[in-house]
Amino acid sequence: MPGVVIVGAQWGDEGKGKVTDLLAERAEAIVRFQGGNNAGHTIVRDGEEFKFHLIPSGILYPEKACVIGNGVVLDPRILLEEIEGLKRRGVDVGNLRISANAHLIMPYHVLLDTAGEVKLGKLSIGTTRRGIGPCYADKALRLGIRVQDLLDEKILRKKILAALEPKQHALRELSVQRRKLRKEAGGGGREGGDQSVADAPDPRLDLHTMSEEFAGYGHRLEPHIADTSRLCWNVLDGGGTVLFEGAQATLLDLDHGTYPFVTSSNPIAGAACVGAGVGPTDIDEVWGVAKAYATRVGAGPFPTELDDAVGRHLLERGHEFGTTTGRERRCGWIDLVALRYAVRLNRMSALAITKLDVLSGLDPLRVAVRYRSREGAVFDTFPYHQSILHSAEPEYEELPGFEADLSTCRSEADLPPQARAFLDFVAGFAGVPIRLVGVGPGRDQVVWIGDEPHLRAA
Ligand code: IMP
Repeated sequence: MPGVVIVGAQWGDEGKGKVTDLLAERAEAIVRFQGGNNAGHTIVRDGEEFKFHLIPSGILYPEKACVIGNGVVLDPRILLEEIEGLKRRGVDVGNLRISANAHLIMPYHVLLDTAGEVKLGKLSIGTTRRGIGPCYADKALRLGIRVQDLLDEKILRKKILAALEPKQHALRELSVQRRKLRKEAGGGGREGGDQSVADAPDPRLDLHTMSEEFAGYGHRLEPHIADTSRLCWNVLDGGGTVLFEGAQATLLDLDHGTYPFVTSSNPIAGAACVGAGVGPTDIDEVWGVAKAYATRVGAGPFPTELDDAVGRHLLERGHEFGTTTGRERRCGWIDLVALRYAVRLNRMSALAITKLDVLSGLDPLRVAVRYRSREGAVFDTFPYHQSILHSAEPEYEELPGFEADLSTCRSEADLPPQARAFLDFVAGFAGVPIRLVGVGPGRDQVVWIGDEPHLRAA
């Protein structure tokens, strides 16, 4: 029985949370398999807005297992804040399960992320500064601290000490940076201010404080810590459905995205196996989620980016501001070259197109169908070479636009013919059926295409 993966098909923020929330109705377990609190999804349920960074969207179903898989990097302070916030709103979090093997984002990861970005200056990646990259780096270096380490303060202390040791140089540089900044702000240094404060080591990095603080998090999280791979196997072997919820998106994939302007994990479907601890043959379906246009936060190539009235329309009508950082997102037309690449990389079986309503009022609609390089070469497929992608000019197909407000459409027949033609073009080009269309932020503001919901048939 089905393992279903949901992935972002663009540069993130496609509305995966809402699609997961809808498909979760048919699943027994919902599992996040990568990323950390760099993600952000908003779910509107009965007019109430829920914003999550770490907790899978499935938490709003108290009868389903809601799992943070081993592939996730977890900031326990943020997780506990989310848990407390949900409890305050009356949401039962008793079914939250956290993999004992997931890695922890430590205070030094957050500091090093910011320091790395500052150091890169103009070349910075535009990370969310949540410590994601340094945490995954420590995991690969085998210097990571895992959730299970929280349960033994002695081990925790030893591991923190080992992880800190090779970072001394970078952390010293960081305190020099801090001192410089304080001096510039007139708050420290010999010329004025309190020198002892300026020179004091960052209290967040004190071994004793950190060990105590994290052991405290361990006590609070202990009831949720589990062998989450086994939990997935039990559901799958018992004939139930597990939904694997990807964060970020295909073009931010560490291996297949627009490196180095990517995140430090693998958000593509293949990573669901590693990040949740199941096998490839456990996966039956892959749903990709794409907006009817494109957005990107942070730096990096974005061939269809618009810096004009249409871009403004998409930003304003689409409320394109980051859930995690509040940053304005870069906006542009849908890029079908990139989408087709994402379809193949994830071997998608279905597409969900979100925010179709945002296109209303734009005429004509444009969809990028190929790129042209600076030298005039034509690319029908996503170029592997970064320099080509950086300077690629998109070539568009024009489709008629529509004026109607789509927010009340609930069936395919309610959609104006131009909107249907747009969807047909996208599905035809991408080579995968569109099963779900979003026409507004609400849970009910969707149009199912074909049998609804798809998982019922599975
Ligand atoms: P990091 O994941 O914080 O290291 O950031 C690396 C890149 O991924 C930056 O360009 C971020 O803006 C981008 N990114 C990370 N998480 C998300 C997300 O959830 N949505 C969109 N972009 C993201």
